[in-house]
Amino acid sequence: MPVPATVPVWRPDGSNLVVHADNADYLPTLPDNSFTMIYVDPPFNTGRAQRRQQTSMVRSIDGTGDRIGFKGHSYSTVKGMLASYDDVFEDYWEFLAPRLAEAWRLLTDDGTLYVHLDYREVHYVKVMLDALFGRDSFLNEIIWAYDYGARAKTRWPAKHDNILVYVKNPSNYYFDSAGVDREPYMAPGLVTPEKAALGKLPTDVWWHTIVSPTGREKTGYPTQKPEGLLRRAVTASSREGDWVLDFFAGSGTIGAVAAKLGRRFVCVDQNPQAIDVMKARLGPYC
Ligand SMILES: C[S@@+](CC[C@H](N)C(=O)[O-])C[C@H]1O[C@@H](n2cnc3c(N)ncnc32)[C@H](O)[C@@H]1O
Repeated sequence: MPVPATVPVWRPDGSNLVVHADNADYLPTLPDNSFTMIYVDPPFNTGRAQRRQQTSMVRSIDGTGDRIGFKGHSYSTVKGMLASYDDVFEDYWEFLAPRLAEAWRLLTDDGTLYVHLDYREVHYVKVMLDALFGRDSFLNEIIWAYDYGARAKTRWPAKHDNILVYVKNPSNYYFDSAGVDREPYMAPGLVTPEKAALGKLPTDVWWHTIVSPTGREKTGYPTQKPEGLLRRAVTASSREGDWVLDFFAGSGTIGAVAAKLGRRFVCVDQNPQAIDVMKARLGPYC
């Protein structure tokens, strides 16, 4: 579907944007190589009817017909194998793969993609991203560990999310950990007082509380992620003035973080409630 005429046009020298649109319609309107960082936190339940379909080829993202791969990588075989035992994933692949292919196109050559998932989807999406970006573009799997809610007694309680990180060009990506918040040493007595005061660089396991139900950050949007989590990622993977994109933006956490760190942002969501929340939260920055 064409994007409505009311949707603002993005310009590299323009203002921050909150966009109400289906990202499948909106992303193709953005020019190549425009965003240094893209963060997405996609829904697993896409709301589409489940279809059982054995696909051996992947539809071209530009609609010109079937083709075997993207960026020279063949992923049709992998997809067919996955689809043969999980038709829910088949549907998810159809939903997510063209959007993540757009993310690859929209990243600058030194850009980085963060995809926020949980233990149910992460392994499938890792395979998808390996096919789309190439395995050599995989940078990290960040584990966001939290401790909240009931604890299952029949298995290990799942208390983490997974964030897959891919770079567009593994030999030329921007990453600067210098400004990132540091963590306390577990045994500060074992290091010098200077080191203990400075703290240590975070690893790929990030302990962080969920958005407090009574805290100032809470917007009321059900899937809101904490700013502290995204602050680390935005700080390391973009510079001041760079453009950051979230095309499953929800309450606009990435926009709030980007603006506070002097980055520019585009936040896209198709849900009118998300747009209302973002307008209230990000209005002063737009
Ligand atoms: C898990 S939430 C994102 C939450 C966000 N990270 C935050 O901190 O608030 C996923 C969002 O994707 C949006 N969404 C789902 N399908 C979409 C589509 N096709 N185009 C744009 N937004 C979509 C949903 O409306 C929802 O707000």
